[in-house]
Amino acid sequence: MIIAIDGPAAAGKGTLARALAAHFGLPHMDTGALYRQVGAALLADGLDPADPVAAEQAARTLDLTRFTDPQLRTAAVGEAASVVAAIPAVRQALFEAQRAFALQPGGAVLDGRDIGTVVCPEADVKLFVEASPEARAWRRVAELEDRGEHVSFEEMLAQVRIRDARDSGRADAPLRAAEGAHLLDTSDLSIGAAVDRARAIVEAAIRRKAAGTG
Ligand code: DC
Repeated sequence: MIIAIDGPAAAGKGTLARALAAHFGLPHMDTGALYRQVGAALLADGLDPADPVAAEQAARTLDLTRFTDPQLRTAAVGEAASVVAAIPAVRQALFEAQRAFALQPGGAVLDGRDIGTVVCPEADVKLFVEASPEARAWRRVAELEDRGEHVSFEEMLAQVRIRDARDSGRADAPLRAAEGAHLLDTSDLSIGAAVDRARAIVEAAIRRKAAGTG
């Protein structure tokens, strides 16, 4: 059972991915954290995240295992991640690790921008999680606030729009809903309600698979 979850920044992908992984007993990979680790490493070394040579070198050589490092969640690292993610050689370097994770026996849940379109087009269930830019900006402001980082709503809304434009406008693996993806708009849903809907979508897919119709 491979579950692919894509969508823009702060739409709720990570929360849904973790909840589904726990519910169905599957391992989970936050693929955005791979790009964040590359972006963070470049910033830490005083390098430009837009430098394709330095970014590819980091993507190929780093031991990318710091998935839960809180340092990865800052606004600056999110921005750097979005910049390195537009470099095709970086995407190429990170592809195999994502693919291998998805294909492990028993399956996996992966969330990102191109899981259903590029990394795992054969996923059993594809979810495209959306929310309005305003709802996502409010969520990011609250998330950063919890970490002691203060960003105004207006500034965050502008950042969300810039990230959306970069993630959707890049030539290589742009953010878009995969063919056959189930759309889930979380703008007006509580976390619990969004998880319930996502779980129902996966359970329906499991039933279709068992009946040989999916
Ligand atoms: O989901 P996130 O905010 O942690 O992702 C950080 C950046 O990484 C995001 O701006 C786009 C990029 N990304 C990507 O291009 N492909 C993925 N599969 C995951 C993330």
